[in-house]
Amino acid sequence: MKPEIKNLLRPHYLTMDGYISAGMEVTKDDSTIFLNANENPFELPGLEGFNRYPQPQPEALALAFANAYGVDHDQIIMTRGADEALVILTKLFCEPHKDAVLICPPTFGMYGVDARAAPADVLEVPLLKEDGTFKLDQQNIIETASKPEVKLVYICTPNNPSGTSFDHIDVLGIAAALEGKAIVIVDETYAEFSAQGSICEDLDSAPNIIVLRTLSKSYSFAGMRMGCFISSDKEFISLVKAKALDAYPLPLMSIQAAFHVLSPEIRAIAKDNIKKLLNERDRVIEAFNASDAASYVFPTDANFFLVEMNDAKGFLNHCAKSKVILRDFSTKPLTENCLRISIGTPQENDLLLDLLADYES
Ligand SMILES: Cc1ncc(COP(=O)(O)O)c(C=O)c1O
Repeated sequence: MKPEIKNLLRPHYLTMDGYISAGMEVTKDDSTIFLNANENPFELPGLEGFNRYPQPQPEALALAFANAYGVDHDQIIMTRGADEALVILTKLFCEPHKDAVLICPPTFGMYGVDARAAPADVLEVPLLKEDGTFKLDQQNIIETASKPEVKLVYICTPNNPSGTSFDHIDVLGIAAALEGKAIVIVDETYAEFSAQGSICEDLDSAPNIIVLRTLSKSYSFAGMRMGCFISSDKEFISLVKAKALDAYPLPLMSIQAAFHVLSPEIRAIAKDNIKKLLNERDRVIEAFNASDAASYVFPTDANFFLVEMNDAKGFLNHCAKSKVILRDFSTKPLTENCLRISIGTPQENDLLLDLLADYES
């Protein structure tokens, strides 16, 4: 394993034994009779196959993920959404009551929640609000993350809730400065919507970067809970498989559906839907830019945008009365009076824009 990861792992992971599940002990073929996993041998009608535990990390599915993300299949751990990846990585790197993570608010709330649950401290280096957008405070991140207790640095790009993409050169610069000191988790939950693309192609030169990806957003698959994390360090990935996963973490139904969603036909449709969403995003943002109710729309590279309203709560409540629900960031630092709005179908967006027009008049 590369020292940039090995030296930051909680040391007992290097020596402890992992769980060998019943499914790992033998290779399955159709003629084998399995009396080793306390499964129920009777299949229920319409639910055939669901009586058996799924493979923990099916290699064929890892190959499909690898193909989608341009990496090797043995650089991937598949998880129940990017959310589960956060839990696993916190568990692997943060010593309870001792270590810390660094986040750059405003950003995704679960980073802090998972750390506090460990419990690990959460150090904040807020984004800089400059020139009408948000920027990483690169120097401050490097200085703060150089403290020995900081094990994980979260960079979300495009960032939720601001929609901002951060330059890969800056992210790689931060990671290089922190090699041997901290793991940089680059959360690419919204990367498919971004003009900048993914940092995955640079992973070989960035041993301390771990990338999060998910099928939830660009693949319309949030309900199936499928995501992954990616590291260039294959030995680290092997260790995670052996020691840090639940025995059968991925539901069989999600595995089966993920094969379908990653097929060339469905991928082509998903890609087309991304284009539609980006066109819709431009249309919706144009209307907000022209509206007297909105004071500023932040540049976005995702399937949502952050907008500063003259009266955020007023518009939020106005929309809620018509059962259109927006996300309120108006009382949080750096996003005062702001709402985050996801791009919907053209009909849903029409309704939103009607509500905006009503609200103005
Ligand atoms: C930045 C970010 N990371 C991770 C997640 C979790 O995604 P998943 O559905 O893959 O668990 C979300 C969900 O909204 C998110 O916005």
